[in-house]
Parts: sequence; structure tokens; C-alpha cells
Amino acid sequence: MFNINGRRFVNAMIFISFISGIVSWLWHPFVWSFVLTVPVFLIGLIDMNQKSNTIIRNFPFLGHFRYLFLSISPEIRQYFVESNTDGKPFNKNQRDFVNKRSEKKFETHPFGTELDVYADQYQWAAHSIYPIDKNKIPQRTLIGGADCKQPYDASIYNISAMSFGSLSAAAVRALNKGANMGSFYHNTGEGGISDYHLEFGADLVWEIGSGYFGCRKEDGNFDPGLFKEKAGMDSVKMIEIKLSQGAKPGHGGVLPAAKNTKEIADIRGVEPHTKVVSPAYHKAFSSPQGLLQFVQELRDLSGGKPVGFKLCIGKESEFTDICKSMTETGIKPDFITIDGGEGGTGAAPIEFSDSIGMPLEEALVFVTDTLNGFNLKKDIHVIASGKIITGFDIIRAMALGADLCNSARGMMFALGCIQALKCDTNECPTGITTHNPNLTRGLVVSDKATRVANFQSQTVDAAQEILAGMGLSKFEQLNRNHIHKRTGTDQIKTFEEIFPTVETGAYF
Ligand SMILES: Cc1cc2nc3c(=O)[nH]c(=O)nc-3n(C[C@H](O)[C@H](O)[C@H](O)COP(=O)(O)O)c2cc1C
Ligand code: SF4
Repeated sequence: MFNINGRRFVNAMIFISFISGIVSWLWHPFVWSFVLTVPVFLIGLIDMNQKSNTIIRNFPFLGHFRYLFLSISPEIRQYFVESNTDGKPFNKNQRDFVNKRSEKKFETHPFGTELDVYADQYQWAAHSIYPIDKNKIPQRTLIGGADCKQPYDASIYNISAMSFGSLSAAAVRALNKGANMGSFYHNTGEGGISDYHLEFGADLVWEIGSGYFGCRKEDGNFDPGLFKEKAGMDSVKMIEIKLSQGAKPGHGGVLPAAKNTKEIADIRGVEPHTKVVSPAYHKAFSSPQGLLQFVQELRDLSGGKPVGFKLCIGKESEFTDICKSMTETGIKPDFITIDGGEGGTGAAPIEFSDSIGMPLEEALVFVTDTLNGFNLKKDIHVIASGKIITGFDIIRAMALGADLCNSARGMMFALGCIQALKCDTNECPTGITTHNPNLTRGLVVSDKATRVANFQSQTVDAAQEILAGMGLSKFEQLNRNHIHKRTGTDQIKTFEEIFPTVETGAYF
């Protein structure tokens, strides 16, 4: 019945049990040896007879150690193996400095850079012999084109879309409180506006995904009446239509019945305890003109608040068609959020995260060039997201055409995320992406809110300081000539040389 290893194991166990039995009969404390050997023996027997796992069938009992070590290998790598500059998606240095900035402990770094400045892809900003006073540099930008009646004065660094559902109530509350303390916006994510998003009165960007959560009819279509009611709320400062996100572009979402609690169902406007599908496409439009009319409809219904859309660039021609349509219809979004293919998520199929969607650098260049080519850039703010966690990241995104930036995972680090990579398991050890009360109790809202506010303000200060060192007085002055990149062992290029800027109006 058993294979050779199994038989050896059983023989060994019988022998050990027999010896233990005799010794324990002779010497009382050895009764304890039975407590150890009998369960091992039984586990071994079960292992040998199960049919689903080859390793455990061939190596009874011992095979479990392989899975035990595999299950803690991320922790072992993080604690004992990882160097300061490796570790993915964010390396140890990056995680550490968000942590220190959150505690206001990060003023300086000792002894010089740990980066290899001669490595391919190394990038740096061009400083000036004539720096200026950083305090004169504005940190905010006014969003809203000609059709917008309630323009919004946004910070240059904000909280990117993450829903209540993918985040715990405690995490949403801490983000909201932090955003209110630091006067920057909190994007709701596509899961609707919950009470937690309103609790501390932070400025909100209400994101509307293809599920139209919070403004949906029973059949899953967009409900203008419900939208109008919520978009009119004072906290809602802007509206973002989500077309796609970098970690899973072209992929919809499913809220499993088990996760669709009464609370989440009420917020999303769906039937509790049922499976709810967010399709990959919007039912409200299916063409460039349709999208722009939807932008216009939302702007009118909201009383003229800024309305934009978020996407990760896929087929370039589709984005170009939207820009053409803007010039034909005269309807323009107030902002466009560009999410790089390197963007994060709570859960996504690995192929979509790894191999679909344009990375942020190329996407920003393409979008800015296309908007410039159609002479639209002057009317539309570009918001960038995708691993933007330092002052230099902000400067680089802006040099490539962004007007402001969002961060999701940077803000999660500020909340205490340790990159345990269990966001899709409901076992997040830091209480951020779990609804297990035993874990969320560790996330103390008042403490984490202060950390979020500190991280945001110190990162913006760092960007301001770099800009001052570059001798520039406004973020708008940044351009592709300001950032250099090593493109080979003995080759350096500016972004302008790599991606020459398209002249304004060149596409007419
Ligand atoms: C936990 C989590 C949940 C997210 N939920 C949403 C969402 O509801 N809507 C959306 O547009 N993007 C969502 N995103 C993507 C982020 O908003 C952001 O675009 C992306 O992570 C890139 O930013 P980052 O590199 O700073 O994380 C989510 C990301 C994370 C990590
Ligand atoms: S600590 Fe929580 S939020 Fe951070 S990566 Fe791990 S599971 Fe995700």
C-alpha cells in the first residue's frame, strides 16, 4: 500500500513507539514521549494515504516543513536576506523613509547615496547654481476648466483611489483624518462614499467605476438622481470616472457574496450577500463621444464640479480618438488621471499586473504629447500615479507632464503597511486590508492619521526643496530637459532627448 519512503517511515515510527512504550513503562516521565510520537505517527499515516499532494505523500510529516518554510519565506527574505536597495515592489530604503517621514524623523541620510549612479536607468534632476527660497513655491494647483463652476484648489500630492472594502474601516478613517489635517484630497475608490469617508470632513474625489456604486439602479445602470444627491455633498470636490487602473487594466471586479455584508451593500447600493460584478466596461457609454457626454452630464448634475477620468494607457489610438473628439465636441474633462502599469491593487490576476498596461513614464509622455498636439493641455490637469513616494518622484512626474500626483501604497506605508503582500487574504497583519476585528484593532486611527499627514507634508516639502535647488519658482516650469537618465554605460540623455516634446497644436 505504501511507497518505499512511507514504509520506512511507518517502520521507524512503530520502532520508536515500541521503544518509547517500554521505556515509559520502566520510567514514568517517558510517558511524554508518547504525546510526541503518537500524533506524528497519525499525521504520517494520513499523509501517506492522501492523494492530492505528492511531496507530502512521498515524505510523510517531513513534507509539511517545506510548506511551513515557504509560507514564511517573504518574512525571512524581508528580515534576513533583503538588502537596502532590493525588495519588491518597494525596496527597504523606500519603505523605511516613508516610515521615518511619517514619524517626522527623516531629515537626512548618512554617508551618501546607496544607489549605483553608474547603473543603466539611473536618473537625476539638474540643479542650479542659483537656487531660490523654497517657501516662495506654491504647493497647490487650481483644477477646473471653462465649463466648471466650482474649481478645486488641490494639493500637488494626494491619496489615490482605494475603496472601503479593499481597505478596512480603520484605514479609511485614518486616511480621511490625515487628509483633513493636511488639506489634501482623499479619493474614495470605486466602492462608493461610506460614512468613514465623511467622518473627518476631508476633501473627497468621488470615483465612479463601472459598477456605479452609490449611484446605481437595481439593474446595475447609472442612476442620475442618486448621483446628483451625493455629488452635491460639500465634501465631494471632484468626480473621477474610472476607466481602468494600472494593476489590472481591462479587467473588471467581483465582490463575492461572502464579502458583500449589509454595511458594504448599503454603501454600494446593491443587494447584500449576493455576488456583485463590476464589468470591465461602462454601460453608460461605449465611444469617445459617449464618454465626453457622460463627463458633461456628471459636471452638470454635480453643479459644475471638476470631472475627469482615470485610465492606464493601452491602445494609444483610443486615447487619441478621445482627444480628437474633445476638439470636435468642445467637451473637455477637467483632469485626466494616468495610472502607470506599475500601479498597485488589493487583488488582481498576475498576468494583468505583470504584463498589461503602459508604465507611467511612457504613459505620461504620450498623454502630454497628445494633449499638447491637440492644444488641450492648457485646459486639462494631468494627475499621475504609480510608485510616486518621494519628492524626486513628484518632480520627475511633473517634468514629464503631470500637474499633480496621487499615492496609494505610499499612504499605506504611512498607515503602517509592512509589505507583507497578503492584501487579498483578509489576513493583513497591520489591519489595513482586512476586516478581521482582531487585526484592525491594531490600527489606531488618531496615530495613523498623524503619520499620513506627516508623510504627505514632508514629501511635498522635499519636492519643493528640490525645485528650489533647481532654481525654479513653480512646479509648472518643470520640463523634460530637467531630468537626466543614464541610457547605457557611457551614455546620458535628458528626457527631452529621449522623448522630444510635441509642439502645441502640431496635430491639427
Ligand atoms: C489596496 C488598493 C486598492 C485600490 N483600489 C482602487 C480603486 O478602487 N480604484 C482605482 O481606480 N484604483 C485603485 N487602486 C489603485 C491606486 O489608486 C493607484 O492608482 C495605484 O496603486 C498606483 O499608485 P501607487 O503606486 O501609489 O500605489 C487601488 C490600489 C490599492 C493598493
Ligand atoms: S501589510 Fe497589509 S496592506 Fe501591507 S502589503 Fe501586507 S497585507 Fe497588504
